[in-house]
Amino acid sequence: MKVLVIGGGGREHSIAWKLSQSPQIKELYLIPGNGGTSEIGENVNISLNEIVEVADFAKEKKIDYTVVGPESPLVSGIVDEFEKRGLNIFGPSKNASIIEGSKVYAKRFMKKYEIPTAKFKVANTPEEAQSFIKQKIFNFPYVIKADGLAGGKGSIIVKSKEEAYKAVEDLMINQKFGSAGEKVVFEEFLKGVETSFMVFSDGKRGFPLVTSKDYKRLEDGDKGPNTGGMGAISPSPYVDYDLIKDIQRKIVMPTIYGMGQESRMFKGLLYPGLMLTEEGPKVLEYNCRFGDPETQAIMMRLKTDLLEIIDGVIHNTIKDINIEWSLEPSACVVLVSGGYPEKYEKGKEIYGLKRAKMIEGVQIFHAGTKKENGKYYTNGGRVLNICAMAPSLNKVMEKIYSAISFISFEGMRYRSDIGMEKK
Ligand code: AMP
Ligand code: GLY
Repeated sequence: MKVLVIGGGGREHSIAWKLSQSPQIKELYLIPGNGGTSEIGENVNISLNEIVEVADFAKEKKIDYTVVGPESPLVSGIVDEFEKRGLNIFGPSKNASIIEGSKVYAKRFMKKYEIPTAKFKVANTPEEAQSFIKQKIFNFPYVIKADGLAGGKGSIIVKSKEEAYKAVEDLMINQKFGSAGEKVVFEEFLKGVETSFMVFSDGKRGFPLVTSKDYKRLEDGDKGPNTGGMGAISPSPYVDYDLIKDIQRKIVMPTIYGMGQESRMFKGLLYPGLMLTEEGPKVLEYNCRFGDPETQAIMMRLKTDLLEIIDGVIHNTIKDINIEWSLEPSACVVLVSGGYPEKYEKGKEIYGLKRAKMIEGVQIFHAGTKKENGKYYTNGGRVLNICAMAPSLNKVMEKIYSAISFISFEGMRYRSDIGMEKK
């Protein structure tokens, strides 16, 4: 079998790593991949948003299965483009990816199908948004969100009138995220613990992955700005079996059912980001793809052949597959470039990877790295994902942090409190 993974982050490296263990796979390609994936497959230099070119490549190479990592090619319709050519691809269609691509759509959808989420109002123009601020539609703090994709940076928590006006100016008037901010959602602030919940969806039912929690803030103690993710643990210490059942019943099932009713059948990976509130779980946002960096931690625990699962979702046989997971916990700590999530420098040499990898149970998934003449250099904000699995979370964290102690590059930073939950 020939398999193609689309994306170049830690998530895609971990997916490719898991796939590379499948005895069925003979050739593995990545578009564009990174410094680490070049060790397990062939990196192909095509922009992942050039969906026609990507599909042409897959057709020419006779790729048997393609797995898509990031949301942007999904929202642009890469799945439809592949299916037009008769190629197997894992991910939702353009029609179904709207659940992540438009927050306005997602909120109205949840309201229609009575899926628990924060109260909201949609502003279609800056004037309308400014009038919401004047009318004090919610108490502070509340959240102002760009409708479209903004690389995880389009949701702004505002604590005062001034901050609210500034958010509207940034998103709608100055269009910091382009057309993503043409409309915005005003949303009440939800208190609670955040958790990620991912299911494989065959369009009719959701088959849950093991639970996980990510750490979005830059600094220890959940301080500092939001990032693309500084770490993750699996399982989530906040989600027990009863809560899983509750989430399935109140959120996953009605979402998959509702999307079917709307003629937007959702096949692929559905990942609602949740807030566990006093009133129960509520949806913060939908994602139409694997989470990053949760997937890096989760892939460590997956025992079943990932290709079998991918095939099961595409060909509607997932219900017959017994997906097996290790009972041991796992985690992922992300090493980032100095300055991230704002401006940062690239091209710094990375030292110590060989030593770090020698620790038993540790896996290193690359994100923003490139390999040149046998050396690794930083090539992005999130650089490396240091992951481990062990009999207890304490042991996992011990392994990860001792691996990190061997690694260095100029400006490197990371959180030192991943997996140190009080609970
Ligand atoms: P989103 O882009 O909708 O996932 O939001 C990004 C982050 O902002 C979430 O992971 C939360 O930490 C926070 N957030 C978003 N919406 C809310 C809300 N209604 N209440 C509290 N925090 C929120
Ligand atoms: N971990 C957050 C995300 O993948 O969107």
